[in-house]
Amino acid sequence: MENLITLVNKIQRACTALGDYGEASALPTLWDSLPSIAVVGGQSSGKSSVLESIVGKDFLPRGSGIVTRRPLVLQLHKSEEGSREYAEFLHLPRKRFTDFSAVRREIQDETDRETGRSKQISSVPIHLSIYSPNVVNLTLIDLPGLTKVAVEGQPDSIVHDIENMVRSYIEKPNCIILAISPANQDLATSDAIKISREVDPTGERTLGVLTKIDLMDKGTDAVDMLEGKSYRLKFPWVGVVNRSQADINKNVDMIAARRREREYFSNTPEYKHLAHRMGSEHLAKMLSKHLETVIKSRIPSIQSLINKTVSELETELSRLGKPVAADAGGKLYMIMEISRAFDQTYKDHLDGVRPGGDK
Ligand code: GDP
Ligand code: NA
Ligand code: MG
Repeated sequence: MENLITLVNKIQRACTALGDYGEASALPTLWDSLPSIAVVGGQSSGKSSVLESIVGKDFLPRGSGIVTRRPLVLQLHKSEEGSREYAEFLHLPRKRFTDFSAVRREIQDETDRETGRSKQISSVPIHLSIYSPNVVNLTLIDLPGLTKVAVEGQPDSIVHDIENMVRSYIEKPNCIILAISPANQDLATSDAIKISREVDPTGERTLGVLTKIDLMDKGTDAVDMLEGKSYRLKFPWVGVVNRSQADINKNVDMIAARRREREYFSNTPEYKHLAHRMGSEHLAKMLSKHLETVIKSRIPSIQSLINKTVSELETELSRLGKPVAADAGGKLYMIMEISRAFDQTYKDHLDGVRPGGDK
């Protein structure tokens, strides 16, 4: 049985590839119905750091000001042990990146291509896939950081533009919100909590992540926050310790950083009892498991949308008349293949949950 997350990844990519054929009107609905995880938080709250720890690689642009100016749809694919890590952009099919600093440059260049270096933001996503034995299957969407003031060269409207863009992603009921808040600030002032509370008041689909636990004032700790006593969510809070700016400057690598993070939680008396559910690795596993559960519960509705899309595409192609452009045919084929794979997965799943099945 093909991995469910991998399948959903494929559909997401197919939807984007087919986006050019804008008249296939079920596509946006199909895209919206797919479960996704969006990363939200204030500027410098640690979003990029959390994403990089989940991936175990440095690959995101960084710097001051608004660095993320387009949504980044990041699809992680677990590959076989020992195989080489590489990255691929949807807008550069056939080009494999093995140098992750080149990935960072390409994200920057591709951002500028759309926004014209104006420091404006754009809601057109960049799609990046990473294939590695060290990741879990997962799709994450990195969004521009929420900010309170525009910086030089940016229109004042950018503050609201970012907020609206973030909201447009996280208000979808299928979106899982990875809400990043720094532990060295009062949770009551967290941008991530403020916006997620708006769209998910009961905290059903918000996963709270506390960063910068190592930077809290001496004599204070994050135990109340991590135990959900400061702000209750349906899911337990996860604390992380990312690399500091000094670590980044010294090129402390991700593997060493993950190890240090593990040691931090198991060796700090206040956090020892929570250590088993803290840290980036735990976060990645928890997200993957959660995403899979959500996808399973949505299979029937995703399936019916795929079927609707396939038939609309067929109608559209026949309306355009023959000869159908080779790539349009190819894309239709791709969607149909996915549909078939999905059918099979759905059947496997039903077999698994039927009485007498071992699920
Ligand atoms: P973003 O703007 O939300 O993407 O934030 P970044 O991930 O770029 O982090 C902003 C700054 O905070 C960087 O200098 C990071 O090194 C630092 N940082 C992020 N998380 C932590 C953490 O858990 N501990 C420490 N000490 N520094 C952190
Ligand atoms: Na924040
Ligand atoms: Mg960032």
